[in-house]
Amino acid sequence: MDSDPRGFPPEDDRSAHLNALLREKRAHAAEGGGAKRAEVQHAKGKFTARERIDLLLDEGSFQELDRFVAHRHTDFGLDAQKYDGDGIITGFGKIDGRPVCVFSQDFTILGGSFGEGAGLKLVKLMDAAMQAGVPVIGINDGGGARIQEGVFSLAAFGELFYRNTLASGVIPQISLILGPCAGGAVYSPALTDFIIMSRSTANMFITGPKVVQAVTGEEVDLETLGGADTHASRSGVAHFAVENEKQSIALTRKLLGYLPLNNRDEAPVLPPADDPARADAFLDGLIPADSSQPYDIKVLIEAIFDHDSFFEVQPDYAMNAVIGFARLHGQPVGVVANQPLYLAGVIDIDASDKITRFVRFCDAFNIPLVTFCDTPGFMPGVAQEHGGIIRHGAKIIYAYSEATVPKLTVITRKGYGGAYIVMSSRHLHADQVFAYPGAEIAVMGADGAVSILYRRELDDAEDKEAKRLELTQEYQDKFANPYRAAEAGYVDDVILPSETRARLVAALELFRDKHGKLPAKKHGSIPM
Ligand code: HXC
Repeated sequence: MDSDPRGFPPEDDRSAHLNALLREKRAHAAEGGGAKRAEVQHAKGKFTARERIDLLLDEGSFQELDRFVAHRHTDFGLDAQKYDGDGIITGFGKIDGRPVCVFSQDFTILGGSFGEGAGLKLVKLMDAAMQAGVPVIGINDGGGARIQEGVFSLAAFGELFYRNTLASGVIPQISLILGPCAGGAVYSPALTDFIIMSRSTANMFITGPKVVQAVTGEEVDLETLGGADTHASRSGVAHFAVENEKQSIALTRKLLGYLPLNNRDEAPVLPPADDPARADAFLDGLIPADSSQPYDIKVLIEAIFDHDSFFEVQPDYAMNAVIGFARLHGQPVGVVANQPLYLAGVIDIDASDKITRFVRFCDAFNIPLVTFCDTPGFMPGVAQEHGGIIRHGAKIIYAYSEATVPKLTVITRKGYGGAYIVMSSRHLHADQVFAYPGAEIAVMGADGAVSILYRRELDDAEDKEAKRLELTQEYQDKFANPYRAAEAGYVDDVILPSETRARLVAALELFRDKHGKLPAKKHGSIPM
């Protein structure tokens, strides 16, 4: 080592020895379960725990914590299997210059299984993240509770779940699933805000295919039971399924770009790069006047928000509803919409869950909500009724009513019945409600209304079809428009679709610093 220009003496032999020992220990800890196991990991198309952290964080920003934590157990030969770090890497670093806490399970050490030592590390990490007010990103790739540690491992999980719950709504929590995530271990990611799964390597399940077959007799493969596509499109457990680990990590970085660090922070506003008054004329012809004809709400959303800013969440689940983040004149917002292209935009159980959770996330983190309503109503049917569409639908009302962030609503076409109310209507205290000229705001569609109101007249009519047409037209003229609602002040203005962007930008500017208040209570009792 060069001599110090200020004349300090070089390290003496004792210091040199101790410093070398530390470097050696660090290098040893960095090896994880060893080169052979790292090779196996690579052969499966997976990165190692450390490589994943390096890919996730800004270069050189990672600060590792607790790298020397090791377990203290001896049963089942564990005393011969002690590793620095105990199968999980924890620490903090930066993403796009903003601080985050991070952990990464190391599959090369006892299969990334979770024991007392890993629990201690995560508890410390979660507590630090709460104190610092920064997001936690967890990379999951492990065999779940460390079997050899018995109840100590379960206790560690319990402490983690407790902290996941307390952190909910305070700091964003994001889970990447890049390997197995089995048994009770799934409940930590399930308690976090977003789950991202890699198609090539991830699976999540409470019990694996063998147990399923033994208990229920069902034969199912791993992918079908708990692969990325299953959870992103059928169960709704995952928010994103992407091809591989690199994409999972890139998506995590992108997602964070829309989120505040904590519930007192502001979501990052970007310098506006798009004309706030941009009016795309094609929008005025996008929505078919015939309300039975579909159109793609995502085309409208893409055109209204800042260029290329729409970032869809759960794109493959309950596609009759669309949710995601976007920017409006640089400011992040949460977007919720019915999708007329899929099941005519009807609201069913899955769409209710999808919308509710997203609205609550945005409200918890002060992200304004922009809602687009075009729905024929709630999904009819025995399966939906028996599945509890009543309580699931009620959750949307609850979430919007409770949300105190700025709430802006655009009724693009159908706003029928209860579904009109639940989609962030004036009556749930939306701050501004706009409707397009073709909006139909009524208790129900004209056909259904005529059948109920005029059953006798229709029965008695000589030409039933002509009578039905006449009555339907009358109902449509009276109710199938936005002007009755506008007369009543339920709609603040009727606007052209091409005017939407400018009107939303102005409304968001007005309400940006809104401070909504709820009555004092411990917490409500949302109909789960
Ligand atoms: C201890 C474990 C382990 C575990 C895996 N290993 N899971 N060690 N506890 N839970 C070890 C293996 O013994 C093996 O060690 C090494 O990790 C790699 O495992 P393999 O089986 O060789 O790898 P692979 O074929 O890729 O299969 C991975 C796996 C499988 C799918 C994760 O190992 C598995 O099914 N593990 C058990 C999963 C499970 O049931 N966990 C408990 C869930 S219950 P060696 O030395 O031989 O290489 C739970 C309760 C939480 O988590 C409750 C909270 C309330």
